[in-house]
Amino acid sequence: MPDIFQFIDDINSDKQSMVAERLESRAQMAQFAAIRERYFDKIGLPAKGSIHELGCGTGAVCRAIALRPGFAGTVVGSDLSASLIETANEITAKTDLRNIRFYQADGQGSDLHDAQYDLVIAHTVISHVASPAAFLGEAIRLAKPGGRIVIHDGDYASLTFDTGRPELDRKMPELILQAVVANRFVMRELPRLFQQSDISITHAIGDVVLETGNGEYFPGLAKSYCPIAADNGFVEATEVEDWLNAIDHAMSENVFFGACNFVTYCASKPG
Ligand SMILES: C[S@@+](CC[C@H](N)C(=O)[O-])C[C@H]1O[C@@H](n2cnc3c(N)ncnc32)[C@H](O)[C@@H]1O
Repeated sequence: MPDIFQFIDDINSDKQSMVAERLESRAQMAQFAAIRERYFDKIGLPAKGSIHELGCGTGAVCRAIALRPGFAGTVVGSDLSASLIETANEITAKTDLRNIRFYQADGQGSDLHDAQYDLVIAHTVISHVASPAAFLGEAIRLAKPGGRIVIHDGDYASLTFDTGRPELDRKMPELILQAVVANRFVMRELPRLFQQSDISITHAIGDVVLETGNGEYFPGLAKSYCPIAADNGFVEATEVEDWLNAIDHAMSENVFFGACNFVTYCASKPG
């Protein structure tokens, strides 16, 4: 089953809305917002520069950049999905932000905006694309000489749950990964990919998203994507229902556990 993020425009409108809502709500969640803002601080965003977000989805990260105190630059977001770009435009039009624009493009290669950006960010995208090497090449192409490239994503091979049902806790995350993560090991492979592109990593930052007792992100991940795996015949719907009930039960007893590592790399394009 291919990663759903590779064909958002082909899924039905209910699933498109679910994906858009999840992207928007994840951007607001305290743990995710803190990780994002911390890596922005550590790498230092160019306050007056031009920034490109490759694979911007609904534009949540673009708006978070534009809303940073003192930011007076421009942000351009591009995404494979025309429907997510439409949503990004709609949401942004309701704000006062006038320094963001969006366009549709495949982040694995285009001939637009060559060497135009001070910073190119890919925030939770490279794990979903068909070719991480081509995607990294595009990020490097978009950056100015001396510009920077930031790749942030889940080290999804570390995704883990405990609901007190060990067999299901091993089986179901595997199905989530099959439905929504094409490249679960890519954050471990990136040092090699950067090296093959002759680009030196300047920052490598590790974070863990952890929910214990209760949860929001991990239960939502399970509830949104396990039924898609079941629709595709990868698992019995009753087993999915069992696991989702186990998640609710663990949360009601305040003993739920969900965790995943996230990694951010920053690299400089030679000047
Ligand atoms: C998990 S979402 C992240 C969206 C956004 N960066 C955020 O953090 O809210 C992954 C995004 O990657 C996009 N995507 C997948 N393959 C792509 C490609 N080849 N080029 C550009 N975007 C792609 C999807 O359409 C989706 O918007």
